[in-house]
Amino acid sequence: MTQQREAQGQPFYITAPIYYPSANLHLGNTYTSIVCDTVKRYKKEQGFDAYYTTGSDEHGEKLARVAKENGKEPLEYIDPIVDSIKDLWALLDVEPDAFVRSSSEEHAKNVQKIFTTLYDKGYIYKDVYKGYYCTPCESFWTESQLEEGHCPDCRREVEYREEESYFFRLSAFQDKLLRYYEAHPNFIMPEYRKNELIGSFFKDGLEDLSVTRTRIDWGVPVPFDEKHVIYVWIDALTCYLTGIGLGQDQDKFNHYWPAGVHFIGKDIIRFHAIIWPALLMALDLPQAEQIFAHGWILFEDDKMSKSKGNIMYPEPLVDLYGRDALKYYVLREFQFGQDGNFSSRNFLQRVNSDLANDLGNLLSRTTAMVDKYRDGVAAEPKEEYDVDKSLKAVQMDTQQKLEKAMEKYQFQVALEEVWTLVRRTNKYIDETQPWTLNDKDPRRLDTVLYRLLDSIRTVGTLLIPFMPETAEEIFKQINMEKPTWKTASKVDIYPVDTKVNRGDALFPRLDVEKELERLHAANNDLLLERTGASKKEAQENLTGVLDLPPIQSPEDVERVGELESELEEDYIDFEDFEKVKLRVGEIIDCIAHPDADKLLVETVDFGDEVRTIVSGIREYFEPEDLVGKKFVFVVNLKPRNIRGIESNGMILAASSTDPDQISPVAPILDLPKGSYLS
Ligand code: MSP
Repeated sequence: MTQQREAQGQPFYITAPIYYPSANLHLGNTYTSIVCDTVKRYKKEQGFDAYYTTGSDEHGEKLARVAKENGKEPLEYIDPIVDSIKDLWALLDVEPDAFVRSSSEEHAKNVQKIFTTLYDKGYIYKDVYKGYYCTPCESFWTESQLEEGHCPDCRREVEYREEESYFFRLSAFQDKLLRYYEAHPNFIMPEYRKNELIGSFFKDGLEDLSVTRTRIDWGVPVPFDEKHVIYVWIDALTCYLTGIGLGQDQDKFNHYWPAGVHFIGKDIIRFHAIIWPALLMALDLPQAEQIFAHGWILFEDDKMSKSKGNIMYPEPLVDLYGRDALKYYVLREFQFGQDGNFSSRNFLQRVNSDLANDLGNLLSRTTAMVDKYRDGVAAEPKEEYDVDKSLKAVQMDTQQKLEKAMEKYQFQVALEEVWTLVRRTNKYIDETQPWTLNDKDPRRLDTVLYRLLDSIRTVGTLLIPFMPETAEEIFKQINMEKPTWKTASKVDIYPVDTKVNRGDALFPRLDVEKELERLHAANNDLLLERTGASKKEAQENLTGVLDLPPIQSPEDVERVGELESELEEDYIDFEDFEKVKLRVGEIIDCIAHPDADKLLVETVDFGDEVRTIVSGIREYFEPEDLVGKKFVFVVNLKPRNIRGIESNGMILAASSTDPDQISPVAPILDLPKGSYLS
């Protein structure tokens, strides 16, 4: 794990995906970049030489097509979008150390060199590709991998192709990859995604991968066979190496590689956890320490077509409420790794409760009291009482707890730890009632005001990686230089006799209803401007234009928790019954759903695949009651997103007339995992 490495000056390389510049980025794409920037700042605070790369993925059929549809040459279409991506990173203050454009010359040279090396080593050979291609995902599929004739990843139409192609011998790495995963349990995170990946892609064996195209010329040509261009994913993944100087500055490259972590969205895990490691093995390059796949941010349904999905841009959120409010919200609200739903109301409420009330009030109440009772100057603390000790104990503990959470990239937990200290400090004000002390016990007031300022210093220090601007403002108001990270857990180091600079509220309290209107108006305006559509068209075409997943309404999702027990009186044909595929699966892991009281999230092993299944039985069973047991599951239900987690199947359960009696259905013999029911 990363935290065990000696931090001082050691390299820590972080990557975000390189984005398709086919449309302006939305809040979902922005998420990974906020995460990367936060981790970079965090690692830097710890003393690492942290470096972060992202970029734009400019080649491929999809972009060539979109540009053509807009009557433009690829770069003519792409350039302004790339500029808008760079502007967005500047607006959010999440600028990378390297922004690699895959269309750049130095990158093309790297891609060609890697391709030639793989060819020379015998890992690439020429043959004929026969199969299906999903252009939006830039992915190849065999017939058996298709789902009802559609792309299994995005469920869109695929095209049949038969063309001469070069192939990468991915099949040769099957066992090596599995052994690598086994020997490096933290390589793919979260763990259940690794189980899903192994379950779904290795079960029929890995097939060789077609790595060139002859039908398009918008890409990097194969150096020794120019009618072929190199597959866009090989091109894209190589950006991670170009970003740290491959081909330009070998010392820099050797310094930063291997990466400490590749942050990606869950939809591109196959490319990062199978194809990329196999390519690195073939090139004799070391593997990244970890690949962390986060979930999707879904969008609330508001003013737009419910069935088609919705979109939120980061710009209006930043313009209206500041970049730190957005950073805080996405890091605090979503459990990293799992899907989450963006809700403007929830965002505004969090700004009010956590930022304006808890944090903002703490700072403004404290500086106001120091101003009022001590002319702005904090004197040294005097005798210590139990209540002071109790606050100091939390203050000393918080950093360690935060670091423990950050080892696993649990941003939500890390921030919750800081807020435990913020709330404890607010409570300390209620307990000590400083406004009563000036006359009756001025020595005590000195201690109380000092304790508050010292506690705020710890809070500010711990916020540096997450909310850098807010941390800076805190230090400005308590009038001290930005402290070093390692001082966060220390107490009594706020400089005595400092004159505080009382300033504006960190986060003004918002009128939620009024702000909802303002935010939606600003977002809708941007949407119309960017899609160039009329209001009606924008609403109708939203999903297609912006590549968003369809949104399920909370009501749709809620239903899943309830077990379908309505009995149909009509007879059904045997063929109808046969449509339902039932299998025996063993629950190998089970946790409470992080965002729903009634749901359990089960990891179910069917022998040849492992799935995540969400069930509404938490009221009746503890997770540990189910682990290690075999039950019957419906395995051909369409995957459904249940409160942010994709459920791939349903446990069968019987219920009696007593509402408290419910039982999952289990075979009475110990059948092998995966047995079918008929
Ligand atoms: N170009 C590829 C990545 C190549 S990396 C060598 C790509 N680009 S993308 O623009 O489609 O997506 C970039 C990232 O944004 C991916 O990690 C994807 O998972 C993420 N997201 C896109 N929509 C998202 C949400 N709604 N929520 C969270 N992340 C999402 O894939």
